[in-house]
Amino acid sequence: MKPYYKDPGGETEIYAQECVSGMNELPEGMIDLIVTSPPYAIGKDYELDQSFGDYLKLLSDFLEAGYRVTKKGGYAVIIFADYYMFAGQFSRVQPMTYLYHLISERIGWVHQCTRVWQKDYATLSDPYTISGNLPKLEAEWIMTLRKPGGGREKVREQVLHGRQIWSTAGIRQSTATLKHHTAAYPEALVKYALEVYTDVNDGVLDPFGGSGTTCAVAKRMGRRSTMFEISPEYLEVAKTRLEQQVFDWDGITKDKQVDFTTDKTVMPEEF
Ligand SMILES: C[S@@+](CC[C@H](N)C(=O)[O-])C[C@H]1O[C@@H](n2cnc3c(N)ncnc32)[C@H](O)[C@@H]1O
Repeated sequence: MKPYYKDPGGETEIYAQECVSGMNELPEGMIDLIVTSPPYAIGKDYELDQSFGDYLKLLSDFLEAGYRVTKKGGYAVIIFADYYMFAGQFSRVQPMTYLYHLISERIGWVHQCTRVWQKDYATLSDPYTISGNLPKLEAEWIMTLRKPGGGREKVREQVLHGRQIWSTAGIRQSTATLKHHTAAYPEALVKYALEVYTDVNDGVLDPFGGSGTTCAVAKRMGRRSTMFEISPEYLEVAKTRLEQQVFDWDGITKDKQVDFTTDKTVMPEEF
């Protein structure tokens, strides 16, 4: 398997490949932590041909391939939303946490905990938040799975580890991802996961790497990382981001709010 991009020190590798087949080519037990957000099934281009069954199959296949490449005692931190089934005024939401739980425990993962990721308040005009009879998408799930074995569990970062809500509300999203990927997560979210579940030099994997947020943060925090991605456009964004070392999680971090009466995002003066 030839990387699409490998950084000069060899710590970061990007593969232009479907992730399940790609993970099956990696050595067993090489990864300390998987951090990823699988396709969300909320109507983005790369999801248009997908049925709910296809979606569950992809989840099951990726969790199984991910289990093999993870070390005993290693973790997977999966970020996902519930599944939106659109039908006009009869639209509804399929809860996903228990399905994830069932699928992952059948494979052998142990469900350690599910946290809430508190995102920014949604604006009415955001195309990927839901109007009509459904609430807008302002929070998602962060599920931590653990591969059994490997001795005693380490806790690296007590404060974050102890919180059930990981909030990025008000944290400015990386400019690289905002411009180029419709479903990128903030760098801060990856930073939280890496602080709690990894040490320097550990190996991190993002099967659904998108614009390379996981790898960019891993690089900055001295972790090795590997990602897979199928979209040529996102691969190029991720490569450029790694090459140019565009990391900006600790840019402007406070007080972005939505004024619900006007639906305008209110920025503090320094914006
Ligand atoms: C929710 S996005 C991830 C965004 C990423 N966390 C970021 O910050 O940019 C999911 C990504 O998975 C990619 N994808 C979908 N199916 C895939 C597959 N089978 N293998 C690899 N990548 C896939 C999509 O192109 C999309 O970029």
